[in-house]
Amino acid sequence: MSLAGETSAVRTAARADAPPLLDVAALRKYFPVRDVWQRQVGWLKALDDVSLFVRKGEILGIVGESGCGKSTLGKTIMGIHPATDGKIVFEGNDITKLRPDKSRALRRRLQYSYQDPGASLDPRWKIRRSLHEPLVIHTELSADAREKRVRAIMRSVGLPETHLDLYPHEISGGQQRRVGLARILTLQPTLVILDEPTSGLDVSVQATVLNLFLDLKKEFGLTYMFISHDLSVVRMICDRVAVMYLGKIVEMGAIESIFSAPKHPYTQSLLAAIPQIGGRKVTDDFWLEGEPPDPTNLPSGCRFRTRCPLAESRCAQSEPPLIEKRPHHADACWLSA
Ligand SMILES: Nc1ncnc2c1ncn2[C@@H]1O[C@H](COP(=O)(O)OP(=O)(O)OP(=O)(O)O)[C@@H](O)[C@H]1O
Ligand SMILES: [Mg+2]
Repeated sequence: MSLAGETSAVRTAARADAPPLLDVAALRKYFPVRDVWQRQVGWLKALDDVSLFVRKGEILGIVGESGCGKSTLGKTIMGIHPATDGKIVFEGNDITKLRPDKSRALRRRLQYSYQDPGASLDPRWKIRRSLHEPLVIHTELSADAREKRVRAIMRSVGLPETHLDLYPHEISGGQQRRVGLARILTLQPTLVILDEPTSGLDVSVQATVLNLFLDLKKEFGLTYMFISHDLSVVRMICDRVAVMYLGKIVEMGAIESIFSAPKHPYTQSLLAAIPQIGGRKVTDDFWLEGEPPDPTNLPSGCRFRTRCPLAESRCAQSEPPLIEKRPHHADACWLSA
């Protein structure tokens, strides 16, 4: 895989009729906004009516500007943040209201890899202890059996076993990513939510780490939700993509369809901003104007209208729903065809 030049797809093409492994319906996560006296003065709607599914074996990309709610989506699905409203069904079980400690067995096969690779590793623990710990909590394995599994996973993620005796600060950022992944994989998950898994890595290391994800996907039969700023990478490895803007999905569908014919003006602006090597443009130039509005004080109607060069008066009146207007391609814009 090369990350330079025109991207060549390395997708694994999940079966279009595969059943959903994860089904999220009308998910909301509101954070209270407080004044200096700690009085609640409003809500920050980090997730506002988000519905999506992830099929077994596919990679669903989640993209959008900083602060649009990508990590909140991952963390709410994981139960790290309790949902304000909505439903999360994983492997056919409703896990929305289950507290993390009450749903260990169910949630074990659903894992989240933190945006900050150091966050999942205790700086005071050697790598070995960080990798044994989830197995101690979640399984009945003996110390010997745990050690065997931990060593095998270290090999799978391409790290020498000698690294088990190091502390997190003694290894590189790329290696911390691999340890973070190893920690998750010890629990034999089916769905892994990867939050910005290549951010902060050199381009050459990014390519190696992406290849590792694809190898591990094949080796362990994984399904990924892939949160990323990097649209070129999303285009290369994801089967479908959801584009988020201020807590809402504004466009979602098959990669080819979205990248070749984006319908929502926000997606069009994002794609126009990708450097086009080889000169071919996906859309006419269409740049985002201004900053996103204050998320605690959203505009009426379509929340993108304040930055949208096409906005009309009706866009201020009511919020456009996310509708599948053509096969495998939905958008939430009053003006799209
Ligand atoms: N624990 C929290 N308490 C209050 N507000 C939060 C909390 N976590 C996130 N937010 C707010 O929710 C919104 C979405 O944040 P989130 O971290 O999900 O964005 P993101 O899309 O992951 O951004 P980035 O690309 O920078 O990682 C932001 O406005 C953020 O300030
Ligand atoms: Mg984030």
